[in-house]
Amino acid sequence: MINASTKLIGLIGNPVKHSLSPIMHNAAFKDKNLNYVYLAFEVDKDRLKYVIDGAKALGIVGFNVTIPYKVDIIKYLDELNEEAKLINAVNTIKIVDDKAIGYNTDGIGARRALEEKIGKVENYNILIFGAGGAARAVAFELAKNNNVVIANRTVEKAKSLAEEISKKLNRRVEYSGLNVDDIIEDIDIVINATSVGMKKDDKPLLTSDKLKNKIVMDLVYSPLETVLLKEAKKANALAIDGLGMLIYQGAEAFKIWTGIEPNIDVTRKAILEVLKK
Ligand code: ATR
Repeated sequence: MINASTKLIGLIGNPVKHSLSPIMHNAAFKDKNLNYVYLAFEVDKDRLKYVIDGAKALGIVGFNVTIPYKVDIIKYLDELNEEAKLINAVNTIKIVDDKAIGYNTDGIGARRALEEKIGKVENYNILIFGAGGAARAVAFELAKNNNVVIANRTVEKAKSLAEEISKKLNRRVEYSGLNVDDIIEDIDIVINATSVGMKKDDKPLLTSDKLKNKIVMDLVYSPLETVLLKEAKKANALAIDGLGMLIYQGAEAFKIWTGIEPNIDVTRKAILEVLKK
């Protein structure tokens, strides 16, 4: 029950109306009997500057941050953890002793989603499609101990991300355009971190003939079975949908705010119920 001791966590972004995070986190708070509530705040660009001071004044525990503020919010924070500093984007904030600390749980969320299915993700050859915000977080995390190739429609963006990661992690990261015919044979894991697959008539970035014996993960979760995952299934490849990353980036944020690991089955079920509607 919401009472005078209830603590508040918020999502800031624009738009936020379709976010599944309130469903996920409120289900987890209820399950763990924690007196918290999670609400979504659609914030105008010119008001972003008031959010952190306002939150400190009100005693708000923290936030998730989504598009388009993952980078813009940084200048209002007091500290960044190592991950957020590396990626230069924040998806989670916790306010402690009047200090706003920024974190990024997107990369670790993708890692945990993979590891749930295949065990430790180390020394694999991984192809990541995309060079936007999601791809960035995932590529930084997985390049720590795997061989990563970034493939993007705009090759320049793949190149600059690959070079940035190579430099910061001191590990070679390759890049390519969307045609990956020359390298696909050596790839173990394919990850779609583009928005391809969200629209009904989207064409898959790879067809089943290229996906035999591979592990294929899509970060798109609406629809859950994307065109790429359909191709993966045709090839009898292991197909991992976007629910995993959504849930695990949320679980990591939940841990940062509360110190408690949420029940993954509870959050998964809550989200599935909404997605099915
Ligand atoms: P997010 O934060 O979700 O990663 P984003 O930063 O807008 O979103 O990035 C979208 C990614 O999807 C980009 O890599 C984009 O490729 P470009 O850099 O060439 O724009 C990719 N993308 C979007 N639509 C695409 C399409 N139809 N075909 C191929 N890639 C596409």
